[in-house]
Amino acid sequence: MTARIHPSVLSADFVNMEAALGTIATADAVHVDVMDNHFVPNLTFGLQMVERIQAVSPVPLDVHLMIDDPDRWAPEYAATGAAGVTFHAEAAVDAVLLARELRSRGAKAGISLKPGTPIETIVDDLAEFDLVLVMTVEPGFGGQSFMQETMPKLEALAHVRERRGLSVDLQVDGGISADTIGIAAAAGADVFVAGSAVFGGDDPAARIARLREIADA
Ligand code: DX5
Ligand code: ZN
Repeated sequence: MTARIHPSVLSADFVNMEAALGTIATADAVHVDVMDNHFVPNLTFGLQMVERIQAVSPVPLDVHLMIDDPDRWAPEYAATGAAGVTFHAEAAVDAVLLARELRSRGAKAGISLKPGTPIETIVDDLAEFDLVLVMTVEPGFGGQSFMQETMPKLEALAHVRERRGLSVDLQVDGGISADTIGIAAAAGADVFVAGSAVFGGDDPAARIARLREIADA
């Protein structure tokens, strides 16, 4: 399967967002990090900004909600027309009910696990989700180091997916670069978020192509 690359706007220039989005038109989607300074110790933007990104983005939106009370807010993000909305297992009250609500609004339902959260939290309900995001750093900031110790969770999820014949996507987010993407691909990931590795230098399109090439090797 061809690896899908989702650049994270967290590393883009927030005051030139439309121009930044224009540089990643060859990506499979744009990863949009919403942080509330409660679930994580950092603050980005909310619904109004996501609506504007949706309006001008050349690629579909993959919204990553690092917020408290996703049961209340995630459906509102689905209503922006985002292709996918991912919320955290640690924050949701009823993850299955919420996933069904997201799907009913036409969005793919994603659930995310912080590095310390075991897959047992969600594995029985895997069929309810379109995507599982295995965080490969502690959520909150770009530019952190890839945590290889999260790879056994990815391998276990890939194994369960195969055994049950499910089509759930496995996403990784945090510290993904030309040096680490191959490790995550080998462990079973098929969707790769990259912030600093795409926006941290010249020619984001070339960086996207290079990441895809390494992941598919
Ligand atoms: C971190 C965010 C990531 C972040 C990744 O909590 O969820 O999406 O942008 O940044 P890099 O790729 O620089 O580690
Ligand atoms: Zn993210």
